[in-house]
Amino acid sequence: MKNIAVLVSGGGTNLQALINAQKSGEIINGRISCVISSNEKAYALERAKQNGIASRVIKRRDFQTQCEYDDALRDILKEEKADLVVLAGFMTIFGGSVINEFENRIINIHPSLIPSFCGKGFYGLHVHEAALQRGVKLTGATAHFVNEICDGGPIIIQKAVETQPDDTPETLQKRVMEQAEWKILPKAVSLFCQDKLKVENGKVIISE
Ligand code: GAR
Repeated sequence: MKNIAVLVSGGGTNLQALINAQKSGEIINGRISCVISSNEKAYALERAKQNGIASRVIKRRDFQTQCEYDDALRDILKEEKADLVVLAGFMTIFGGSVINEFENRIINIHPSLIPSFCGKGFYGLHVHEAALQRGVKLTGATAHFVNEICDGGPIIIQKAVETQPDDTPETLQKRVMEQAEWKILPKAVSLFCQDKLKVENGKVIISE
């Protein structure tokens, strides 16, 4: 059974989708062993508590340098014996030591079809604002492995969602979450836990 550490910063609806998937047996060979938040006020922490999942808070501003923060986050994840790290709306940038320690073992959910509307500055509602601004007819979500390039790691699963003429960033965000994020994130996590994901030449091969 693999230990899954879920990193959060906000509302935690993707964490909730993982909790629900775990309860319904959709996550095979894995269990959410801890929730780590960048923000002590995140509602995601309440969701963890309600479901009896241990949680911790680690704040970037408590560390002087990026390197010290990265090392501290890596040490927490090692202490928690994480086999898989899931970024479920985690808004703090980390790098170096965490990525080295957990190569191809960190999964992020991003609310667009990468490589559209991703990279620096594209997070949360900003992604949907940009998609509507561009007038795309299709957007969606991507579950991908994390490497040193922001939103540039190997793609695991994507799901498309149609935009509507009267969409606001908020309505589009909600539809992308419901139709794509909450479905593909638990699926990607379950595939990982069953050792069904292999990275070759920067691409993910799924063995079903
Ligand atoms: C989700 O839409 C997630 O895809 C996005 O933040 C939201 C968090 O919501 N993540 C990013 O934009 C990362 N670049 P949640 O806290 O309700 O899961």
